[in-house]
Amino acid sequence: MGYRLRRTEDALLPPVLYGGEGQLPISETFALLHGEKLAICDELEEIADSLPEGLDRDRCLSVSRRLEPLVQAVHVYEEQVLFPACLEAAGHAAHARELVARLKAEHIEDAEFAAELCEGLRRIGEGLAPLNVEALAYMLRGFFAGVRRHIATEREAMLSLSGATA
Ligand SMILES: [Fe+2]
Repeated sequence: MGYRLRRTEDALLPPVLYGGEGQLPISETFALLHGEKLAICDELEEIADSLPEGLDRDRCLSVSRRLEPLVQAVHVYEEQVLFPACLEAAGHAAHARELVARLKAEHIEDAEFAAELCEGLRRIGEGLAPLNVEALAYMLRGFFAGVRRHIATEREAMLSLSGATA
């Protein structure tokens, strides 16, 4: 089963996902999207580590433009394609439905957190907000740690729910 992410705000995702020729199988798309999310988590960690002296306002702006669309696109893919496929493969068992419900709840929290973080990074990048380095570092670390945990849980869960999604 393949799937094309085709929303205008997804323009920052790797072009390979948009198809043309081949639509990627779910397992490959999933891995690519998680790779993108982990890469942006690494960027957030680098920003956090660079504080306070090494604050790069341009980088804050860059990440603030990319983070939210990426998070949204990954959530859309997972909820519209990956989770239904895994539920199907798991025969819609209760434990699978509970797990998917939990992952979806985490998506809502992550999306809200990403929006807040993007706004903070944008304001700092544009020099609009007084720089509260401790608050920024706290937000950055809270977000990327949570997202990394979510991805680890999701990978493990999806593997255990189904080997049939490829
Ligand atoms: Fe997810």
